[in-house]
Amino acid sequence: MIVAQQVADARQAVSDARRSDRRIGCVPTMGALHPGHESLIRACRDECGFTVVTIFVNPTQFGPQEDFNRYPRPLEDDLAICRRLEVDLVFAPVVDTLYPAGFGTFVDVEQLSHTLEGAARPGHFRGVATIVLKLLNIVQPARAYFGQKDYQQQLVVRKICRELDLPVEIHTCPTIREPDGLALSSRNRYLDAGERRTALSLYRSLQLAEERLRSGERDVRMIAGQMRQLLEETGARVDYATIVDPQSLDELTAPAQNMVALVAAYVGRTRLIDNLPITIDQLR
Ligand code: PAJ
Repeated sequence: MIVAQQVADARQAVSDARRSDRRIGCVPTMGALHPGHESLIRACRDECGFTVVTIFVNPTQFGPQEDFNRYPRPLEDDLAICRRLEVDLVFAPVVDTLYPAGFGTFVDVEQLSHTLEGAARPGHFRGVATIVLKLLNIVQPARAYFGQKDYQQQLVVRKICRELDLPVEIHTCPTIREPDGLALSSRNRYLDAGERRTALSLYRSLQLAEERLRSGERDVRMIAGQMRQLLEETGARVDYATIVDPQSLDELTAPAQNMVALVAAYVGRTRLIDNLPITIDQLR
């Protein structure tokens, strides 16, 4: 496994692989790898001859009051996981490499970037869009893998590729959960035992939405209210709890065949997000 810190070294490794006719796949991450990330890496390995994992805690997607400094950075553990999964190249640059002094070019994806996560975390998707474009330009993969866990993020990434004409196929992989349903997240490491129990209410609220919609309830706003209530009862502080159109992310007022329920809430100081796509075959 090659570990590159410099852009030129990463490019060299990728161009060598391309010359031997291997399809390049890329999995962008911020490290602190867990089985959610592993599932993306496995999908990439299954479909591509050369798997690149990027590990970079991207400062521009964190707000000033957010957890950039305390975000976990267990690089040796991450490299061991990548070795175990037979990753070909890990690109793990330092901040100055990707954002040298005077850096001033950012990507702004309109509309999609300014609701939900974008409204709660101003500037977040500007940072995500910019770093993802940079990483895709450095690696130039045929495919890149993202998690459904960050639903809005994968929509933003798809829009960048479409609208900025990047020849990259975006693959979205299902959310990996703990046995009790909690979505795996690097931020789950912050939770103490009590918070861990509270955190489960995110998934419970999504299940509640699914049950209500499947049982024929048509008042979508009321269901969203019930999701919020369930979260608040367990002590979570809700940022949003909503049911939206899967493409536009517009809030729904009536059930549709395809929907996504989305939640974001603070459990103690830790902000968690989750979502559940909901499909109803037969609208009553
Ligand atoms: P990070 O939070 O490290 O996540 C890296 C990738 O793993 C993302 O595509 C995310 O959706 C996916 N992922 C996280 N938890 C998952 C789970 N439980 N199941 C399935 N996939 C999961 O997302 C980022 O980093 C950054 O914003 C990044 C795209 C790297 C840009 O900095």
